[in-house]
Formats: sequence, C-alpha cells, structure tokens
Amino acid sequence: MSGANSVTSNQETLHKDLEKVVRKYARTTFLRPIADHTREAFVKAEEFVRKFYEDGRKGAPVPEQVRDDIVCGGTSENVARTAPRAVILDSGCGTGESTIHIARKYPNIPVIGIDKSCDRLNKAGNPVQTSGEEVPPNAFWIRAELLDFWRLALDRVKAGEWSIPYHAVYYPNPWPKQSEATRRFHMHPTFPTLLALGETIELRTNWEIYAREFAEAARIVYSIQIPDQARNDVQGLTARTLEFSLENRSCQARDDKGIKITCESFNPVSPETAFERKYKEARQTLWRVIVTASRQF
Ligand SMILES: C[S@@+](CC[C@H](N)C(=O)[O-])C[C@H]1O[C@@H](n2cnc3c(N)ncnc32)[C@H](O)[C@@H]1O
Repeated sequence: MSGANSVTSNQETLHKDLEKVVRKYARTTFLRPIADHTREAFVKAEEFVRKFYEDGRKGAPVPEQVRDDIVCGGTSENVARTAPRAVILDSGCGTGESTIHIARKYPNIPVIGIDKSCDRLNKAGNPVQTSGEEVPPNAFWIRAELLDFWRLALDRVKAGEWSIPYHAVYYPNPWPKQSEATRRFHMHPTFPTLLALGETIELRTNWEIYAREFAEAARIVYSIQIPDQARNDVQGLTARTLEFSLENRSCQARDDKGIKITCESFNPVSPETAFERKYKEARQTLWRVIVTASRQF
C-alpha cells in the first residue's frame, strides 16, 4: 500500500471540465470490447449468486427494504424472497476486508468483491481480517476489470435477473493530477453505467474534491436522464443544495423524484478497509457520497 499521505493535487476545486465531460458521456455509450477474462470472471460470479439462492439461504430480500435498511441503518432480517435476485457489489475491494463487513451486515445477500489485483485478492478472507472466524458464506471475491464487470452486471439488471440494492465503491484511486482526471470513475464514459447499476451507491474517499465531483457528476447525469417534466425541479433543487458549504462540511440534495445525493465527511468508528484504517490512523478527514435512486429513468 502506498502510505497514508493526504492526496496532493494541482487541482483546488472541482475540475474545470467536469460538467462538459460528464454531459458528453451521459449521452454516449461506452463501447470498448469486454475482456475475455472479465467475461469468465462474471460467469463465476453469476454461478455463485445462483448457487447461493438455490442452496436456500434465507432468501433474497426485497430491494426496497434493503435500501431502507442501508439508508436508515436497520438490518436485512425477516424479508421475503422475490425476483430479481439481490446482489451487492464491492468494487475495487482491494484485500477484501470491506466485503466481509458488508457480507456480515447483509447475510441474506451475496456480496461480490471485485478487484483487478491478484496480489490484493490473495489476502482476502485471511484470519486477521475475519478475526479467526469463518468467511461469511455470502462473501465471494473475483478478479476482474470493473469497467467491464459493471457493463455485464447492468445487462443482468436490465434483464430483471439481478438487482443491486447496495454498491460499495470504497477509496478508488483518486487520479489527482488534473491531466488524469478522466480516469476518475465519475469522469469516465462508464459513469452512467455505474449509476444505473445500483440503487444505493456509496463512494468513500480521503479526497474532498473527489467526493464533491462524484456528487456533482451524479447530479448532472440525473438531470439529463430524468423525464423533461421533472428536469427543472430536480436541476434547480439539486444544484442549489449541492453548493458546498465549507463551514458545515456536508451537503445533501434530495428531490421528490426518488433521487438523493449526500456528500459529507464521516469518521468510521472502526475502519472497514485497509485504506480506511491507514487514513484514520493518519487522522485524515474521510468523505462519503451516498447516491440513492429509487427509480430508474
Ligand atoms: C486505493 S485501493 C482501495 C482498495 C480497498 N477498497 C480499500 O479501501 O482498502 C483501489 C483498488 O481498486 C482496484 N482497481 C482500480 N481500478 C480498477 C479497475 N478498473 N478494475 C478493477 N479493480 C480496480 C485496485 O487494484 C485497488 O485494489
């Protein structure tokens, strides 16, 4: 791991091209061919999900209720089986610690940790991470390219086979140089796919600008995608409330069309990822963005 230095960047506020780039990609389709190794990995993930439900583990929660749990801090117990099958993604899971935390929190739902680094994934599920306990049976790790995995997962969502009530994107590489900004997830052609995938997406980062950009990019995409009659309301409301106040260090945008975007600093009681632990020990401020879209447009 590359130490716990704060992010240094030649960028002091939101990237000057953020809006232009996000708008462009909101109207285009990312066509890069999907790598064979990620197709193969995806088949394994599908197989894990299928077996998890066929083995009869407690049943798939109703996504609506799961979303309420996540937003309101409840649990996913006592919910009934419905189609589509609920699947949780932990994208860029690194050594997979967060996958275990999420899997324990939502034992009824298969949780797929995805990373491209074999070295990191090889550490997943080790006894230090699990405190000597068994790896939860709903946790699964797979080596894959996220930009491809997300498109394959969206096909399953569109086919009505999967729903993704929660999607963790914890501490992605920040790409802090302005010249590398289009490698940030929210300035990449795949961002609309990422938003379309999950009902609740939680991004965590130690770079405030990344969090603010991610929240603003989500607002822009939704303001383009929602039906015309609702556009003015949402655009006005979210643009205004997303104006960030450095004094209260948090902002929230909510509209009455089922979209909620929260951007705030937070202090995890106990770290859930290797990077989170490093940053906390270094007393860095951590940021999270929670995007909840209860309706697809
Ligand atoms: C900064 S690390 C954070 C890891 C973990 N979430 C944590 O908090 O400890 C970012 C991770 O994302 C993975 N990653 C970055 N881009 C990726 C991509 N396009 N596909 C798959 N994994 C990717 C890296 O391999 C790395 O493990």
